[in-house]
Amino acid sequence: MQTVTSLDLKTITSEEPLSVCFVCLGNICRSPTAEGVFQHIVNKNGFSSLVEVDSAGTAAYHAGEPANSKSRMIADQNGVTLNSKARKFEYSDLEYFDLVIAMDKENHRDLLRLDRKGLFRDKIFLLRDFDPMPGDGEVPDPYYGGINGFELVYEIVLRSCESLLDTVRPHLKNNS
Ligand code: 4NP
Repeated sequence: MQTVTSLDLKTITSEEPLSVCFVCLGNICRSPTAEGVFQHIVNKNGFSSLVEVDSAGTAAYHAGEPANSKSRMIADQNGVTLNSKARKFEYSDLEYFDLVIAMDKENHRDLLRLDRKGLFRDKIFLLRDFDPMPGDGEVPDPYYGGINGFELVYEIVLRSCESLLDTVRPHLKNNS
């Protein structure tokens, strides 16, 4: 059961393109996959001028690095190119983005902690809040495991991002 509906997206008010930032720990596996997959789906639906997509990590361990080679390989096999360079998520990102979407509950907690005055709570979600099959609510960290974990991440991210676009579609400025 999908838990977020378009009515829950109260923070989407500006006339600018809808801005979405996906967040994981290192910004080299899960959130770059979500960024690339969501951008691909947005483009395929003709919404590229209406949606801005980015990703970042709660930690800076891998800042400046491209996405993990296994993440890139699986995305490539599915016609999706991952172009991101890892960067740390900053307070200014909470101010800037309309939606900030965490991959797991620890990332989600770290984002809520960064939002020390509680100003941005309504724009912080878990990606699997949008998943029609949300499981335990998390996109599992594949970093220390084998290729199967990366394949599972891709599958979860694809399904969740398709549903995310359906959810935000009524909020796009020109959704004809
Ligand atoms: P990500 O995966 O959060 O999906 O990018 C990880 C990348 C690096 C580390 C952990 C998770 N690390 O511990 O360096």
